[in-house]
Amino acid sequence: MVETTARRSPKQAAFWYGGKALHAIYRSKVPALSPWARSKLSGRSYARDLVPVPELTDTFGAALDWLVAARSGRVEGAYLEFGVCTGSSMIALHDALAGRDDVALDFIGFDSFEGLPDDAPEQDDGVWKAGSFMSDRDRTERRLQGHGIDASLVVGWFSDTLNDDTRSALGLGPAPLIMVDCDIYSAAAEALAFCVPHITGPTVIVFDDWHSCGLAEKGLGEAKAWRELTEQHPSIVEVEEFPPYNPNSRIIGVATR
Ligand SMILES: C[S@@+](CC[C@H](N)C(=O)[O-])C[C@H]1O[C@@H](n2cnc3c(N)ncnc32)[C@H](O)[C@@H]1O
Repeated sequence: MVETTARRSPKQAAFWYGGKALHAIYRSKVPALSPWARSKLSGRSYARDLVPVPELTDTFGAALDWLVAARSGRVEGAYLEFGVCTGSSMIALHDALAGRDDVALDFIGFDSFEGLPDDAPEQDDGVWKAGSFMSDRDRTERRLQGHGIDASLVVGWFSDTLNDDTRSALGLGPAPLIMVDCDIYSAAAEALAFCVPHITGPTVIVFDDWHSCGLAEKGLGEAKAWRELTEQHPSIVEVEEFPPYNPNSRIIGVATR
């Protein structure tokens, strides 16, 4: 998702800069402020869904139909989501699965719950801000449980969590459905590299920010991460393109050969 900047009134500006100051204090890890600051600073992420849930539900439905056909009538394995934040995209998949008995996916989500990392502004032409999309893991977990979603959440920076220990701990096998919604190039690259051994056969990959801020058109962001991955792993090929659920997204079906 992309945060937009708009002209602010003096009152809005005071809140904006006050929020940024609190954010800076929070990120400097002042322990006494942490729980309060987390609750205040993550509030914005919960104010609205970060993905359009009905449209993404339809996209997941189309992806599942394609996967079922491509995988001989049944889809099993893991749904890997990189960037869980407030859980809206997991809710969209859960909605898409309602009434289906031909798909059984374990929901596995990866997120720092700290928002974008400190080096976010140093990449992708500086369109991202450190700390954007901070959320509260407990609140997200409660929200998911409220929708009947039993997800495994792997908490931490991808550079610390996306490794073989995590694969083993999760008992991770095929992942026919993957969502990359961690916005920045470096996180998308880490997520995709982690996925390679789990892309076994027809797989759908959803990119939420492919076109955000014209990044794909500049060869940056998620598009850059995907281009590099397919150059390093030519056995993974694009075989299907799904309609986007918003102007920034790109959804592809891939196969291995
Ligand atoms: C736009 S939000 C995801 C929105 C989510 N899919 C939803 O529907 O609410 C992006 C998320 O990626 C996470 N993220 C980005 N880079 C990360 C990294 N390097 N390690 C861990 N989490 C990261 C952020 O913490 C943030 O929660």
